[in-house]
Amino acid sequence: MEDNDFLLLKRSIERLLAIQCGSYKEDYIKRRVLSRMRIRGKENYKDYNTVLVAEKDEQEALRNALTINVTKFWRDKEVFDLIKSDIIPDIIRRKGKARIWSAGCSTGEEPYTLALIAYDLTRLKPDSQVTIYATDIDREVLKKAKEGIYDSKSLENLSEGQIRRHFTQIEDGKFQVKQHLKDMVRFSWHDLMSGKPAANYLDIVTCRNVTIYFTEQQKNDLAKMFHPALVMDGYYIMGKTEFMARELESLYKPYNALQKIYKKA
Ligand SMILES: C[S@@+](CC[C@H](N)C(=O)[O-])C[C@H]1O[C@@H](n2cnc3c(N)ncnc32)[C@H](O)[C@@H]1O
Repeated sequence: MEDNDFLLLKRSIERLLAIQCGSYKEDYIKRRVLSRMRIRGKENYKDYNTVLVAEKDEQEALRNALTINVTKFWRDKEVFDLIKSDIIPDIIRRKGKARIWSAGCSTGEEPYTLALIAYDLTRLKPDSQVTIYATDIDREVLKKAKEGIYDSKSLENLSEGQIRRHFTQIEDGKFQVKQHLKDMVRFSWHDLMSGKPAANYLDIVTCRNVTIYFTEQQKNDLAKMFHPALVMDGYYIMGKTEFMARELESLYKPYNALQKIYKKA
């Protein structure tokens, strides 16, 4: 009975949220649904389904809950193309090293993408040192990130050469990040609302697709917190759908406003 109700709920999710449940593990969907059920005071899938079908706000809330950790390698091609062709080369040329913070790194695809770009760019320069600090508030995703095991779907934006150089194919068509990338990334727990940066003297901060639940004030506080943690001319890279508030224009100047890349003013 319960199974049948869950099946009907999954159908609603696919129809109303346009999310393919097959892309997720069943356990994952159940955990997210159960947390929404708790919030809405519903005790079974059938009652929750009724709410979901009736209320647009609940559909939005469940969509956010299901996609909260969603990420992939080289997410947003234009942004990572620029990081590869201009931004990291600029920093390495000037300093021979780089310190980067991937804030809200989820399961690790973003920091490992930055690591593989930096690794390929500095391979022939043994003196260059690149460290990527990668933080998240969710301990589960950090565990996954440290393991560094991914399915082929999350690697689909990488070239064959990048996959060959930086991953080992393991069982079930999964791929594991090689040790040389793991050595460049330091994962740790950090709450972006704490008001304190996880690292300093940073050349790049990426904080992308993280602030969906933040108020405007909290978003602005975040950008203000990153400012002193960046070096002169450091880069602040936001998500493609995020906006730099007017009141922050004295702190950051656009580097490529379309791709939401800014430099410390
Ligand atoms: C959609 S993922 C973004 C991953 C990656 N930055 C990207 O753009 O692909 C959002 C991540 O932000 C994290 N997050 C949300 N609130 C946070 C907070 N207050 N402090 C740190 N991380 C947070 C979530 O746990 C989640 O893993």
